[in-house]
Amino acid sequence: MANQEDIFKKVISHAKEYGYVFQSSEIYDGLSAVYDYAQNGVELKKNIREYWWQAMVQLNDNIVGIDAAIFMHPTTWKASGHVDAFNDPLIDNKDSKKRYRADVLVEDYVAKIEAKIDKEVTKAAKRFGDSFDKKQFLETNQRVLDYQTKGDGILKRLGKSLENEDLADVKALIEELEIACPLSGSKNWTDVKQFNLMFGTKLGASADSAMDLYLRPETAQGIFVNFLNVQKTGRMKIPFGIAQTGKAFRNEIVARQFIFRMREFEQMEMQYFIKPGTQQEWYEKWKEKRMKWHLSLGMGEENYRFHDHEKLAHYADAAADIEFKFPFGFKELEGIHSRTDFDLSQHEEFSGKKLQYFDPEENKSYVPYVLETSIGLDRMFLAVFSNSLKEEELENGTTRTVLKLPAVLAPAKAAVLPLLKRDGLPEVAQKLVDELKWDFNVVYDEKDAVGRRYRRQDAAGTPFCVTVDHQTLEDNTVTIRHRDTMEQQRVALDQVKAIISKEVDMRYWLQRI
Ligand code: GAP
Repeated sequence: MANQEDIFKKVISHAKEYGYVFQSSEIYDGLSAVYDYAQNGVELKKNIREYWWQAMVQLNDNIVGIDAAIFMHPTTWKASGHVDAFNDPLIDNKDSKKRYRADVLVEDYVAKIEAKIDKEVTKAAKRFGDSFDKKQFLETNQRVLDYQTKGDGILKRLGKSLENEDLADVKALIEELEIACPLSGSKNWTDVKQFNLMFGTKLGASADSAMDLYLRPETAQGIFVNFLNVQKTGRMKIPFGIAQTGKAFRNEIVARQFIFRMREFEQMEMQYFIKPGTQQEWYEKWKEKRMKWHLSLGMGEENYRFHDHEKLAHYADAAADIEFKFPFGFKELEGIHSRTDFDLSQHEEFSGKKLQYFDPEENKSYVPYVLETSIGLDRMFLAVFSNSLKEEELENGTTRTVLKLPAVLAPAKAAVLPLLKRDGLPEVAQKLVDELKWDFNVVYDEKDAVGRRYRRQDAAGTPFCVTVDHQTLEDNTVTIRHRDTMEQQRVALDQVKAIISKEVDMRYWLQRI
């Protein structure tokens, strides 16, 4: 089996080759950690966004959406704490002059320990065969337990040092673990320093009257500052939510791992305004609801796990990540944060305006607490794309590359293929395309032998191929080929739409939540 690095390289090259993701300004050698979505990528991204939006806004009576501006009054970021506290700890290697996130260096070290545990599990599974009990093995194997204790201990200490802003101890930890620069191999490190991640810019034409602005580092603040506007105009009653999708910008220190960590990215966030004191209950509920949303896409329960935060952000009283098994291991995909009344209270203080809710049941006003769900759209894209890319050995000894995207998210739902470029077959195929395109994206492909066209659509992620052949002219039937099973069925032309719709309809998928 290919190693993690090879798999990840394959993901990146496949994303380019099949029109999903290009490097930004590639003809100028690109821009680090900035990417463009191509003709297929933009459709996949749009479908993920829509899948989230329908689950959050359309299917919840008490959640509404907004689309706030990227530019916000600069005081927003003083109030939110981002000017003072939106920092990452950075460290430089004196020999390679490379800059790293100190916490990521330590986390990568722990990931290597976790990889050792995985290796032990694989070895044992082979040795014990069908009688292997993974849970029992993880709980009793001494070597695994030692690895686990070591990893947990390191993460605990890192969390504590970061929480206490003890950057000297973060450096001490890096030195004690003998972590070397991946580039130079040297352990010659500078001290750890804090680095603010916000991008600054200016508003206004003349230099003296220009106002310093930030590009928003999260979409959430656009929701907080509009809390009362939405509550009043929408006559919302607590508990209620405001959802938003949109761009966010962060000057990330470690800008690698493709679209996992970008400098310009998109978030899908929802702030749920609740009665103070009910935050624990809503925290648990939203953790469960969001996990169900992920699982509804059928990408394998074993690829998700919760990670409870040791180090809490400046605004949170509880926080957990939903982690996904990316090609480089389990990493954060979504955050669920209990943000207390921190943001609204801060905006009250800095703006001098009341941001309170009058609760008719309690007959009093209060600043609501907030439960946030926050997922990176690009990260979700990477999760879906990397999980779907498979190399399959076929019965005849050949292999095929197939992108098994959940059909509901696939850019094109069907490809219509005339078997030959003559005998009136292209005309019938084109007519079918003209009918189907009112309901979903369809592509028409007449180039090359049909087998090669199937492979091309497999690799592009198209769930269905519909082939028009000579029999179609006689009895109005076509062949539908299913991407995942490669099974083919002969169906009447007028059934094609219904067969495909049943499998790609969002309703069918969302009902699993
Ligand atoms: N409003 C809360 C917030 O922004 P966060 O954990 O900093 O919380 C939420 O970010 C999500 O945004 C993350 O779980 C991740 O999916 C995504 N995200 C954060 N930084 C990112 C980056 N540089 N590139 C891509 N996605 C990012």
